[in-house]
Amino acid sequence: MRLDKYICESTTLTRSQAKKVLSQGRIKINDKVVRSSAYKTTEDEVIRFDGDIISVRGLRYIMLNKPQDFICSNVDEQLPSIFNLIEVDKKEQLFVAGRLDADTTGLTLITDDGQWSHKVTSPRNKCKKCYRVGLDAVITPEAIEQLQQGVQLNSEPQPCLPAEVEVISETEVLLTISEGKYHQVKRMFAAVGNLVIELHREKIGEIILDDNLDLGEWRYLTEAEVQSIS
Ligand code: URA
Repeated sequence: MRLDKYICESTTLTRSQAKKVLSQGRIKINDKVVRSSAYKTTEDEVIRFDGDIISVRGLRYIMLNKPQDFICSNVDEQLPSIFNLIEVDKKEQLFVAGRLDADTTGLTLITDDGQWSHKVTSPRNKCKKCYRVGLDAVITPEAIEQLQQGVQLNSEPQPCLPAEVEVISETEVLLTISEGKYHQVKRMFAAVGNLVIELHREKIGEIILDDNLDLGEWRYLTEAEVQSIS
């Protein structure tokens, strides 16, 4: 990797600040000052900035318990972004693996690993997502059967894949789906004549929302959680 890129990825410096500290002679490789931005680093080298060893940060994987009225993009709209809730360097490199609507709460995965995110969201991978759904009207046996068989959504060419439905009460169910179409859960219940009034994501694949996290709180995933997405 080019030395200026290495400095950016291992510190909070921008590319132009990295070039500046290089020209100031503040970067040493194996105890020798190196000033060239284009220098190609190798894995065995010890790179120091003002005497401290710097190393490229690994990829980041975060779970957030998303509150209502936050949006999952970092574009400034009328509502605040969930990225305002996370205090980490280089936030602009992070993105959401499977967005939630502004009024949906719960498990939100955030990463800078594009391949991992693709595994979470790609319909081909059939990664399951489990939602706790609060309904306006009583859930009927016919509706449950339709959801389990694969409901047809408006303006979709194919019916949804069969969903798993666990009834908690007359107006609350756990719904597990393995796709992520636009507003999918709300549209599925609309298609069976009901209305979602509360939606909370509890689980993605084997990753369960940590119940130590209050709404708005986050933590890094454990190695096992990261590896569980395959
Ligand atoms: N389905 C929806 O309708 N909304 C969400 O936020 C997530 C899934």
